[in-house]
Amino acid sequence: MNTKIILKKRPSETITEDLFQNINDEIDEIRDNHFLVEVEYVSVDPAMRGWISDVGNYSEPVNINSTMRSFGVGKIIFSKSKNFKVNEYVVGWLGWQKFSVVDENKIQLKIDPKSAPLSKNLGILGLNGITAYAGLIDICKPKKNDVVLVTTAAGSVGSAVGQLAKIYGCRTIGLTSSDKKVAMCKSKFGYDEVINYKEENDLSNSLKKIAPNGIDCFFDNVGGTQFDAVMENLNIKARIVICGTIGMSSFPIPLGPRVNRTLLIKRAKIEGFLVLDYFNKYKEIYNKLLKWYIQGKLVSEEDISDGLESAPGSLVKILNGLNLGKQLVKL
Ligand SMILES: NC(=O)c1ccc[n+]([C@@H]2O[C@H](COP(=O)([O-])OP(=O)(O)OC[C@H]3O[C@@H](n4cnc5c(N)ncnc54)[C@H](OP(=O)(O)O)[C@@H]3O)[C@@H](O)[C@H]2O)c1
Repeated sequence: MNTKIILKKRPSETITEDLFQNINDEIDEIRDNHFLVEVEYVSVDPAMRGWISDVGNYSEPVNINSTMRSFGVGKIIFSKSKNFKVNEYVVGWLGWQKFSVVDENKIQLKIDPKSAPLSKNLGILGLNGITAYAGLIDICKPKKNDVVLVTTAAGSVGSAVGQLAKIYGCRTIGLTSSDKKVAMCKSKFGYDEVINYKEENDLSNSLKKIAPNGIDCFFDNVGGTQFDAVMENLNIKARIVICGTIGMSSFPIPLGPRVNRTLLIKRAKIEGFLVLDYFNKYKEIYNKLLKWYIQGKLVSEEDISDGLESAPGSLVKILNGLNLGKQLVKL
């Protein structure tokens, strides 16, 4: 028998635990080229807010009464595939469930469990680390001594961006929502400056004081008023990457300042991206991240809840900014 969490209904404005239901079900049939994975950790991601809603997005919404879509890591315990063998470990689209029947199209990577703790393959060495690398290194193209500003600086993507920027010789500024997270950003992730944006009356002016020459790379995960304040502090030739919009409602899209003149005057570039477009480079980027992880240059904080049934509550938690590090569920 399997235990899984299914989506019961679509959200209205806020995400609540009662959108989901924990059920027992038979394990799916294992057809040719498929294999059975015993899932050990599943990921909880802000993107899930979009995946369960039927507002237009980059992927089809999760169907009602289907297993909740998620990344996971686990061990193959039965296989009808030539390429995936029993006792191998995989990372991929395993879903919020204890046992997942998949074929190789659902798998991003086979991993060696001796290289790093399994859970790291969902955060700093997984989707979040790959996202940080793609957005910062491929799109912002940081140069030594650039000033890099990161929103959700203490979070899973944000903390990786801050550390990658330091590896590339940049000065880093983080924005986050509590003094505890500020302390973590400084002591653990090596940010040069961190601002608790909730305590700021005039964020734009505070940024002006700590970055008088302006921001060269802006890695944005939130949108909204933090975005507006940073846009008032760009350096000439700034690169802005739109990674997430967790601070904005998806519908209706809130109105904000028009950035046309800012981009013109600063000769700045702005670009959105999806990590899904980097899946063909997953292994290449993973190997770079793993090297820095082993050298101790990339560290991460994890917020792990226990038991599959805690997954919906963990999603509500991250959407309220209450997680301290990568949000995971241990099965
Ligand atoms: N483009 C892509 O392909 C891609 C891939 C993965 C993730 N992302 C995006 O990257 C961002 C970070 O994801 P993550 O997995 O690393 O999560 P995370 O940062 O570990 O956790 C989410 C954080 O978002 C902030 N937050 C939550 N609600 C907010 C609100 N209403 N307004 C402003 N901030 C809020 C909180 O940080 P503070 O306490 O610091 O405010 C919270 O801790 C998200 O926007 C996500 O959608 C994009």
